[in-house]
Amino acid sequence: MASVTFRDVRKAFGTVEVLHGVSIDIDEGQFVVLVGPSGCGKSTLLRMLAGLEHVSAGEILIGDRVVNDLPPKDRDIAMVFQNYALYPHITVAQNMAFSLMLKRASKQEIEDRVKPAAEILGLTHLLDRYPRQLSGGQRQRVAMGRAIVRDPQVFLFDEPLSNLDAKLRVSMRTEIKNLHQRLKTTTVYVTHDQIEAMTMADKIVVMHDGRVAQVGTPLELYDRPDNLFVAGFIGSPAMNMLTGAADPDDRTRFVTGDGFRLPIARPGKAAPGRETIYGVRPESFRIGGDVKLLIEVVEPTGSETHVVARLGATEVICVFRERITEGPGDQLMVSIDPEAVHLFDAQTGARVSD
Ligand SMILES: Nc1ncnc2c1ncn2[C@@H]1O[C@H](COP(=O)(O)OP(=O)(O)OP(=O)(O)O)[C@@H](O)[C@H]1O
Ligand SMILES: [Mg+2]
Repeated sequence: MASVTFRDVRKAFGTVEVLHGVSIDIDEGQFVVLVGPSGCGKSTLLRMLAGLEHVSAGEILIGDRVVNDLPPKDRDIAMVFQNYALYPHITVAQNMAFSLMLKRASKQEIEDRVKPAAEILGLTHLLDRYPRQLSGGQRQRVAMGRAIVRDPQVFLFDEPLSNLDAKLRVSMRTEIKNLHQRLKTTTVYVTHDQIEAMTMADKIVVMHDGRVAQVGTPLELYDRPDNLFVAGFIGSPAMNMLTGAADPDDRTRFVTGDGFRLPIARPGKAAPGRETIYGVRPESFRIGGDVKLLIEVVEPTGSETHVVARLGATEVICVFRERITEGPGDQLMVSIDPEAVHLFDAQTGARVSD
């Protein structure tokens, strides 16, 4: 196990800078997820940590050691990619042992490492099979097994589940988390899927356009996004956003562009007359109240009811625990939990509410 530190790391390809000064602290044993939309620089950052990409400026440390100029093989890390090509002509056991065979480890040592790894991953009965005789999920586990037998200081994962179907993704997510709880190896995991990030991470780093948008625990990011980007990115269905401004005469109200007066508990730095975004999560609506919605679509999921509706000119989505009898075209009176409201400056995107 080792800590990992990025200090003001930059990356340029030719004259184009794609990472603009990224600083991240990862503690020993932590499971950190880098998440963000396609092209924001997640893989580039991971590849620099692995030593597969040159660092244009700044420092990367593993433990106390700056590794900028250290070749990949000396970094004591193991990486699992989305395309975890296994060697087709050798067995599962040999695939897992491959790095040890390259190091000319003894037969005994190989067995001592491969056996427990196979057990942890539920691969013991598959050790003699060839990759073509495995399901997608089993192949993915072999790829992880290959990383585990190396017993590295840090595991790196780059979208390891994106080739799997939805159901398998969910179960592999749990397996990887379980694995981390057993091995406690420092892990850096890249995904563009915010649900994967929320469910797996000790700490999430949200990236946007080559910068860190926010770092925090999953619930910190959910409960108190620092900016509009994180507010919109974390959470599904996404946070509803209404444009307007704080009421100049009443600190507890926000007035939307089309004249709706909505409640706020903690307006913070919100300035009346300055264009502001009112953010409210789908589950922060309650049935009954003085906010009038016009229903467009009702989606019962069984455990919850999702309602797509208009609040004035803005389309919002509400999630209720209750089932409702109203349908498209009907009015629905609701209230908004004022404690659950987020305000952002429309121009800078920065959080203004407390
Ligand atoms: N070898 C390269 N040469 C030039 N530009 C590159 C190179 N590799 C990546 N980039 C650019 O750097 C930016 C970040 O790419 P990166 O692969 O890190 O994104 P990502 O966040 O991993 O995206 P995705 O979710 O699609 O995998 C992109 O704009 C990409 O086009
Ligand atoms: Mg990528």
